[in-house]
This record gives sequence, structure tokens and C-alpha cells, in this order.
Amino acid sequence: MPKEFYITTAIDYTNSAPHIGHAYEKILADVIARYHRLKGEKVFFLTGVDQHGQKVQQSAAKEGVPPAEFVKGVTQKFVDLWEKLDVKYDEWAATTDERHKRVVQGMLQRLFDEKQIYKDKQAGHYSIRQEQFLTDRERGPDGEFGPEWGQVEFREEENYYFKLNDHKEWLLRYIDNRKDAVIPDFRQLELRNAVEKLSGDLCISRPKSRLDWGIELPFDKDFVTYVWFDALSNYISFAGYDPTIDNYEAQPKEFRDRWSKDTLQVIGKDILIPAHGIYWLIMLHSLGFPDDQIPQLLVHGWWNLGGAKMSKSAGNVVDPELLVEKYGAEALRYYLMNDIVVGGDADFSEERLVTRFNTDLANTLGNLVNRTLNMAHRYREGKVSQASLVEKNHRECQLLGLTEVHGFEEAFEGGAPKYPSLKPYSVDDAVHHIQAFCFHVNRFVDLEAPWKLAKESPESERLTAVLYTLAESVRVIAILISPVLPKAAHGIFDQLNWKMEPELSGKEERFHLDDAKWGGLPDGHVVGKPVPLFPRIEL
Ligand code: MSP
Repeated sequence: MPKEFYITTAIDYTNSAPHIGHAYEKILADVIARYHRLKGEKVFFLTGVDQHGQKVQQSAAKEGVPPAEFVKGVTQKFVDLWEKLDVKYDEWAATTDERHKRVVQGMLQRLFDEKQIYKDKQAGHYSIRQEQFLTDRERGPDGEFGPEWGQVEFREEENYYFKLNDHKEWLLRYIDNRKDAVIPDFRQLELRNAVEKLSGDLCISRPKSRLDWGIELPFDKDFVTYVWFDALSNYISFAGYDPTIDNYEAQPKEFRDRWSKDTLQVIGKDILIPAHGIYWLIMLHSLGFPDDQIPQLLVHGWWNLGGAKMSKSAGNVVDPELLVEKYGAEALRYYLMNDIVVGGDADFSEERLVTRFNTDLANTLGNLVNRTLNMAHRYREGKVSQASLVEKNHRECQLLGLTEVHGFEEAFEGGAPKYPSLKPYSVDDAVHHIQAFCFHVNRFVDLEAPWKLAKESPESERLTAVLYTLAESVRVIAILISPVLPKAAHGIFDQLNWKMEPELSGKEERFHLDDAKWGGLPDGHVVGKPVPLFPRIEL
């Protein structure tokens, strides 16, 4: 049994600066990782950058700097952004890392020795501008290659190929035997259909004469390996995998503690087929990974802009850096987790970001914390006390009767959902559950009208019970929202004057899911004064 929850994201190309899609994926994985830590699990979260390949070589050439220098600069932008966005990873996968290169070369050598890789000659039409062989699919209706391909010539080239096709039947069987190999279901179906159509092997080399920014083949110095073979390997090379050992059971303990069939790989929909769903799964299988050690793929959708795909060439990419500067990390984290169904696409809108912040965070959660603490001070000098059992139960039932608080935890879990409406890893649902709960606690305040109670009978048990129920609600909400809004959760605990030990200050260990049940605040606890948590954004 693995001892850690191992989660990865795609590693981002370092040919240009990070955009909102990159940020979404890293935050999604970060929130899931934080949720697992909240449950008390040990987590290994790997993310990083894909630094080799043609795109990077071209971008570096355009700037007139060596690729190594170019990727350093772009990599730093990613590192800085994740820091600003509170994306907390355990290991950084940068593919120019020597450790990674050694593992990739070890993998290539083993597959070559085992005759899974062979050399062959390819002849065909080659686009010099796009630096790739063309097939008939690239021909226009007139049978010619369009101007986008630039000069096209007939070429013969020797390369190395990985025997993908030999494993087609295995992959179909694996997919059929595991219902949750890919989440969501419809992506698994898409993958299956694509595998059915699979034919041919995978070219895993590039002659150095046309690309030298890559990892050299250990058995032929004239070639570097194809960027996807290099990049996909990061998931095991940075987790302690030893490529010289073909038996999973004999792998270093460090690796076995992490790697399992529950390893969750978070990727975008564009890189399921063929990269992760076909190349990667077959790479693992041919390296000797048993079926019960094949990871699970969580495939998210895309953020678009005005219904169109964001792209640098169209000049419509949204820069997350600017948004963090303008609105702060919490506003962006909240919006990105709230406004897209995991697996589906969504349209990015700055206006929606502001509306969600003002409505959900400033008006609902922020207001709730504010009025809870204000009333505790106004009516009980900040002291919250456990009222008589009858009153306490009565108030809590009043509150819980208003809302459905179940399902939050399930929204973060894989596997079969306990609540029929919930899909595994539906982080958006979890956010909506908390949001609905905040909304109902605010309604509870309005129904109970503590200001009236205070006027009619200032010392009443009922008022005591209402105030305690409110403080408890706020405490529980802080714990539940902490994976999405870590800073705000600390802010709420600070204002509640709760878990103030200096060694817990600003630390994730301050929050435990087990503590998210009623009755945590001791009788007579004194809460702090309210400070605005989410000042409204005025446009
Ligand atoms: N380098 C490869 C991945 C190698 S993984 C072994 C790559 N890089 S990428 O920079 O193009 O994309 C990184 C991730 O960001 C991918 O999962 C991709 O789907 C995701 N996104 C890129 N644009 C996106 C949106 N507009 N919206 C959401 N995610 C998107 O592919």
C-alpha cells in the first residue's frame, strides 16, 4: 500500500510565459493536495516545467539567446507565479535536471536492449517551416499542402521507433477492466475509441541536425529523444524511480511509497490523446509496471475567452500575474475553482471574477464572519458559551435543517460517489456546498434576529445558543474552505482567536478535517474583533 497520496500536473512548456490555463491546473491540483493533507494524509505533489523541444529551441532562437539561458528565465516566471498563488508542491520537475536526464536515458536504454525500440527509415513530405513530416491528412482539398507549411520537400530520414502498436490490445483490456482509468467517464470513452484506431509505432528520436535541444539517446549520439518521451518520464524520474530495475516490487522504497494506481495525474483535455492516454500508459506497461500500478488520469477542460480558444498568436491570452496583482491570489483561486465544472470548459471573464468575489466572499462569507464576531462582542463581550443542551440542539437543528451540508468531502474523493449527484474530484461542487452553507448561516442569523433577542431578553439561553452556533459555523467553514482559500482560513481562525499557538501560525497543520464538527470551541471562549476579510472590489 502506498504511504503517500501522489498527485502530479502536466509540466508546462517554457516557450512562453504562464497563462490562466496553467494557473487553473496547478491550483486545481494544489486544492486536491491540500484536501488530502487536511485529512491527515502524507502528500507528494509534483509539478514543474517542460524545458526541451522544438518550441523552446525556436523561441530561444527568436530572442537570440541559448536555449538553456532562455528556459531559465521562463522557468523563473512559473516558479514565481506558483509562489504568489500559494501553489505548494513537494518536488519541482524541471526536465533539464541531471537526475531526470539519467532516468530518461536509463529508460531508453532498457527499452532499446529489450528490443522495444528499433531503428527505421522514414521517407515522405517534410515541411521545413514546421519541421515535421506531413501525411495526406495535411493536404488541402486541392491535394496540395497549403501555404501554412511553407516549403515542402521530399525527405528520407532514419529515426528510432517505440513499439506502441504491440501494446494496443493490452491498453484496450486495461481500459475495459478499469472503469475509472480516466475521469470524467466521457474522456475514458474518447480514449477507448482513439486506441481502437491506433496503428503504427511512435517515433521517439530527432536527428541532432534538426533539433539538438533535448536529451541525447544513450545508444546513438546523433539523436536526441522526442520531447514527449522526455516530458512524460518526469512523473517517475522525480519520484525516485530506478530505470535499471524492471520489477516494480524491487523499486526503491521511496518510489513504492508514492507510486500506485491511485496516483492522480491532472492534465488538460488536449494532452489525453495520444500523449497521456496512449504513449504514457504504454510506456509504463512496457517498462514492466503491472496493471495495478497504472495511474489514474483526471482530465480537466479549458478556459476560453469569448468562446474562443486562447492562444498567443491570437493575442487573447489572460495573464494570471496581472490578475494576482490586481485582485490577489485568493480572489483568483476562488474564481477558478468555482466557475468551471471539473472536466468541462468555461469562459474566462474578469467581470465574473469580481462578481463572485463580491457576492460570495465579501457579501456572504466575509459578512458572516463580521456579524458573528460583532454580535459576540456586542451581546456577550466576545465570550461564546455553550448553552443548555436543549437550546443548543434546537438552534443547531434550526440551522442544519436549512441546508444540506453533506457531500463536501465526497466532492474531493475519487471512486464511486456516495451522493448520486456528485462526480469524483468535483472541486467546484465542494466550493458550492460551502458557499450554500455560508448562505444558509446568514439566513439563520436573519431568522433568529439576535438583535431582537438581545432587546427582549439579553441574557437568554437562546441568544447564547445562537451566538455559539454562529461561531462554530464560522470555525467549521474556515476548515472546509482552507484548501481553496488558505489565507482567508487563517484570517478567520485569527479573528476567532482560535489555534493561536505561534508554531501553527500560517501553517497548514492548523487545520484538520476531523475538527470540522460541532462543539470545538470550549465553553467561554473569547473571540477576537472582526477585521474585513474580503474588502469589496470596486470597479
Ligand atoms: N508540456 C506539455 C505537457 C507535458 S506533460 C508530461 C504541455 N504544456 S502546455 O504548457 O502546453 O500545457 C500545460 C497544461 O496546461 C496542459 O495540461 C494543458 O491542457 C493546460 N492548459 C493549457 N491551456 C489551457 C487552457 N486555456 N485552459 C485550461 N488548461 C489549459 O502540454
